[in-house]
Amino acid sequence: MLRENLPAIADLADLELVAAVAEKAVGVKQLLRDVARDYAPVVFANSLGAEDMVLTDMIWGEGAEIGIFSLDTGRLPAETYELMARAESHYGRRLEVFAPRHEAVQSFVAGFGINGFYDSVEARKTCCHARKVEPLQRALAGKQAWITGLRAAQSQTREKLKTVSFDNVNNMVKISPLADWSEREIWVYLRANHVPYNALHDRNYPSIGCAPCTRAIQPGEDVRAGRWWWESADTKECGLHRRPDGTLVRASAKANVGEAEVKAPSGAGRSQIEEAKECGLHLVDGRLQRIAKQGVEA
Ligand code: ADX
Ligand code: SF4
Repeated sequence: MLRENLPAIADLADLELVAAVAEKAVGVKQLLRDVARDYAPVVFANSLGAEDMVLTDMIWGEGAEIGIFSLDTGRLPAETYELMARAESHYGRRLEVFAPRHEAVQSFVAGFGINGFYDSVEARKTCCHARKVEPLQRALAGKQAWITGLRAAQSQTREKLKTVSFDNVNNMVKISPLADWSEREIWVYLRANHVPYNALHDRNYPSIGCAPCTRAIQPGEDVRAGRWWWESADTKECGLHRRPDGTLVRASAKANVGEAEVKAPSGAGRSQIEEAKECGLHLVDGRLQRIAKQGVEA
């Protein structure tokens, strides 16, 4: 999925667009209030990406009873830490930050090396599990629902993303309030509401994860081309968003398993198939359940 052009500030002169985004925002805020009421305790997983800053603004701005947490992998870009601090100061609130278990990180480093994730799929998944998946499980413990900033337009395999689904892996409702938002709408909201955002977005990083596993994209590349760019498409997941059987939400049915070998970082640069660019936070059971609550269909 090719990236849309980010809207220039001049987009705010498009009053119809600004009004349409404001109207959509009213709907999302209502959904968030409903979710806070019907699924308490509910938490929002905040990666501090552009979408997640929209939700942060809505949740903290509205005072909704929704906890916000971030997974600090220990390898995030300096710009993301800077944004964490800036957002806390902007909203006068404190993010709940989950760190990896030190034993798991030490074991990964001892076994695979400090940057061992470049060397094999096994190493990369071990790192993602230690730094993201296991901390996510702790963050979700005891919750009834979690909220994410996923959008259907982010990749082909997110096309079928629904606002509300049942996450069979974490055994709770999963809500993606911005499922039907475009990248342009996200940026109109951010700019119109003066929401803080990651400085890397202005340097061609539309999707931001850990520093060593994220790079800027080139014109024409898909929005997630800069994530785990050295891997073949079918291995790109970290475990946050996976199906119980291990398959990926974004994995193409045509994924070439024979390409599951990790390419050396030096081989980076070839164009990526976007479907499988997945860190594993959002693997969902193939049997997505239909949830009628709030009239939102899963
Ligand atoms: S992912 O593959 O890394 O999960 P992406 O960066 O597009 O994909 O993030 C999708 C959603 O996963 C985010 O909107 C957020 O809800 C959650 N997420 C990803 N990384 C983190 C993180 N470090 N902390 C909290 N939530 C995260
Ligand atoms: Fe480790 Fe890279 Fe996964 Fe971050 S994205 S947890 S550094 S492998």
